[in-house]
Amino acid sequence: MTAPTIKWTGSTDGHAELIDQTLLPCEVRVVSVKSVKEMWHAIKVLQIRGAPAIGIGAAYGVVLGVQEVPDSAPIEQLHDKLTEVCDYLAASRPTAVNLFWALGRMKKSAESAGVSTTVQLKEILLDEAKAIHREDAAMCRAIGANGAHLIAEGNGILTHCNAGGLATAEYGTALALMFTAHEQGKQFAVYADETRPLLQGARLTTWELCQAGIDVTLICDNMAGHLMKLGKIDLVITGADRIAANGDAANKIGTYAVAVLAKAHNIPFYIAAPSSTFDLATAGGDEIPIEQRDPREVSHPLGQQAAPDNVKVYNPAFDVTPHEYITAIITEKGLIESPDTAAVKSHLCK
Ligand code: MRU
Repeated sequence: MTAPTIKWTGSTDGHAELIDQTLLPCEVRVVSVKSVKEMWHAIKVLQIRGAPAIGIGAAYGVVLGVQEVPDSAPIEQLHDKLTEVCDYLAASRPTAVNLFWALGRMKKSAESAGVSTTVQLKEILLDEAKAIHREDAAMCRAIGANGAHLIAEGNGILTHCNAGGLATAEYGTALALMFTAHEQGKQFAVYADETRPLLQGARLTTWELCQAGIDVTLICDNMAGHLMKLGKIDLVITGADRIAANGDAANKIGTYAVAVLAKAHNIPFYIAAPSSTFDLATAGGDEIPIEQRDPREVSHPLGQQAAPDNVKVYNPAFDVTPHEYITAIITEKGLIESPDTAAVKSHLCK
């Protein structure tokens, strides 16, 4: 990719830089994020998006938030600020559990730091944010390596939304399988759902796959069933925003419909996600909070009015695919075949 999804510049008083994903693919603009308020906004409006990338952004957001505490202040003041900043960032988006996971890690690192000065604690927090970032990159590579064998020469693959490098530290989750298979020399065709209403598939997934030289065809979301019936799809691979203890997986709105279609056509449906996307405190998918977004995203696609004034709009950003529809989940540890509560638990405890 032309620029990293997100990077940190400088030391504890530095700032984050990220590709503004709302402008892609027409413009590749790197924006500086210099306060926790700016990071909250970047997450909310999807300048940075995709579950793992949201987690990394939030971790750096914490580092930005605690900059407001002077280095000379007592360490207790920094601990109080940390709690405030984590609560604030936690309210940016509700569904991707990586956000809460990353904030939890940041708090834990501070609690167990065993340091006595504010300066030292700020350094611990920056180190932890960088570790979250680095580890995500490694998990994505491992997911690619663990799942690439599922793609055979000549396959047609359907994907929904964007689970690529832009949604993670780099390399992606669902797209990691494709990048790895491509690096192994396999030829295959990807069909990318455009992913209404915000077009992450059209704007981001096709952009990433084209750059990698992978054969990709853009389709409207409502064309997937037709393609399956025509025999053009051999497998489906998507990412996830939160996977409950029983394997039910929340992902971009429309994923559930794709999974149902895949089952009806006897096509394997895979989810690729790091362990940071699992939420074992949530027993099943019905408990996963689903983000409701601005009605204008539906009524005014790309800012153009496409529906009558004041028409009622329903705009959930995610849906849940029950585990019965998932052939396997690919993580950095390997594969969870036919996921259910027992299989998820034993896999994550490996
Ligand atoms: O609303 P978004 O663009 O943040 O939604 C992103 C998705 O649904 C992705 O598929 C998911 O986060 C997995 S990213 C590796």
